Amino acid sequence: MTTDNIMRGVVIKGSRRVAIQDYAIPVPGVGEVLLEMQASGLCGSDLRAIYRPENPKSEGAEGYRGVIAGHEPCGKIVAIGQNVSPEWKVNDRVVVYHIHGCGSCRECRAGRFISCHSETGREAYGWQRNGGHSDYILTSAADLVRLLEPLSYIDGSVIACGLGTAYAATLRAQISGLDTVLVTGMGPVGLGAALLAQKEGANVYGLEVDPARRQAAEELGIYTLDGASPKVKETIIELTGGYGPSVVIDCSGHPSARLTGLEVAREWARIVFVGEGGSVTFDVSPLVIHKSLTIYGSWVCSISQMESLVENLVKWKLFPEKVVSHVFSVHEAEKAYALFDSGKSGKVIIASEEEAKRWKESK
Ligand SMILES: NC(=O)c1ccc[n+]([C@@H]2O[C@H](COP(=O)([O-])OP(=O)(O)OC[C@H]3O[C@@H](n4cnc5c(N)ncnc54)[C@H](O)[C@@H]3O)[C@@H](O)[C@H]2O)c1
Ligand SMILES: [Zn+2]
Ligand SMILES: [Zn+2]
Repeated sequence: MTTDNIMRGVVIKGSRRVAIQDYAIPVPGVGEVLLEMQASGLCGSDLRAIYRPENPKSEGAEGYRGVIAGHEPCGKIVAIGQNVSPEWKVNDRVVVYHIHGCGSCRECRAGRFISCHSETGREAYGWQRNGGHSDYILTSAADLVRLLEPLSYIDGSVIACGLGTAYAATLRAQISGLDTVLVTGMGPVGLGAALLAQKEGANVYGLEVDPARRQAAEELGIYTLDGASPKVKETIIELTGGYGPSVVIDCSGHPSARLTGLEVAREWARIVFVGEGGSVTFDVSPLVIHKSLTIYGSWVCSISQMESLVENLVKWKLFPEKVVSHVFSVHEAEKAYALFDSGKSGKVIIASEEEAKRWKESK
C-alpha cells in the first residue's frame, strides 16, 4: 500500500484525465489530525467543474488548485497534532466536513463555513486543499464529524457531500408527513434526497430520464417517472391527487426538469434548487407569483446539519451506502471517474482495500 512514508494521491487534470502521484505522508501540526483514508466519494460537481472542462477554474469556491481531489472523505484518525481537543482520539472514525472556513468572518461565526467570505481562509478539501482520493488526509480537527456506529466508512463518505446536501435541502423545505415531494434527477444526490424525505414522513416521487437510474431508484422504494415522457406532467398531477407536489427538489441541474418542477408544483409549494449549473427560463407571473411559490437555493449543508444527519441516519436505520454501485481503490481512479462520467452507475467510491472488501462481501 504505502512505503517509506509515501502516499498516493489522485489529481484531476481536466479534459477527462486523472493522474496518480506520490506525496510525503503529512505530519499533523497545531489543531490538525491525520486520517487514514477509508472511503472518498466522487461527486457530480467534480465532473462538471474539474473533470470535464478543458481548463478547470482556478479561483473562487469551485476553483481547483491542482490538489489531491475528493471532497467526500471519511476515515480513521491515526495521528493528532498539538492543541487538538481531547475529544478526538487515535482510531476514532470521522467524516470530514469538506469546507474549512476562516472561523472569523460573519458567515463562519453563524456556523455557515460554506459561505465563508475569506479569500485566503476558506479552503475546500479536494478543491483548494488536499482531499480524500489518497491513502491519508491531513485535516483541521474543527472540520471533523464523528461517524457513529453502525454507519460504515462508505456511509460516511456518502454523507460528506451528497447526502449532507440532500439533507439540507429537505430541512430548507421543512419537509414533514404533510408533504408530497417530487425530486427531479435521481443521481446520488436526488436519490439521497428522496430517501431522506421518505424518512421525514413525506410521500415521494422521483423524475429521471435515465432508465438505469430509474430502476435503481425503484429498487430502493422510490416510485420514479420518466422525465422524457410527453405526458409526465399530467401523470404527476394525477398521482398527487390533482394538486401537484407541495415540495419540489431539483437535483438534475437541467433546465427542463427545473421548469417541470415549477409547472407541476401546487400553489404555495416550496421549490429547492440543488442541481448546479445552467439556467431555467419561466414566466414569472403565472408560475411563481400567482402560485405564491417559494424558491430556495441550497448549497451543501452546515457542519451541525451534518452531525444531525449522522444521528438521524442511525435512528432511521438508513444506511446511505445503498446508493453506491461501484467501489474502486486509489490506483483505479481513472476507471472510477470514466464510469461515473458515463452516467451508467450509481454513487462511485474510492475506498481502502479493507473497506472495499467489506462492501463487496455485504452485497
Ligand atoms: N447544491 C449543492 O450544494 C450541491 C452539492 C453537490 C452536488 N450538487 C449538484 O447536484 C446535482 C446532482 O448531483 P449528482 O452527483 O446526483 O449528479 P448526477 O449528474 O449524477 O445526477 C443528475 C441526474 O439528473 C438526471 N437528469 C438530467 N436531466 C434530467 C431531466 N430533464 N429530467 C429528469 N432527470 C434528469 C440525470 O440523468 C442524472 O441521473 C449536480 O448538478 C451536482 O453538481 C449540488
Ligand atoms: Zn460534492
Ligand atoms: Zn469565514
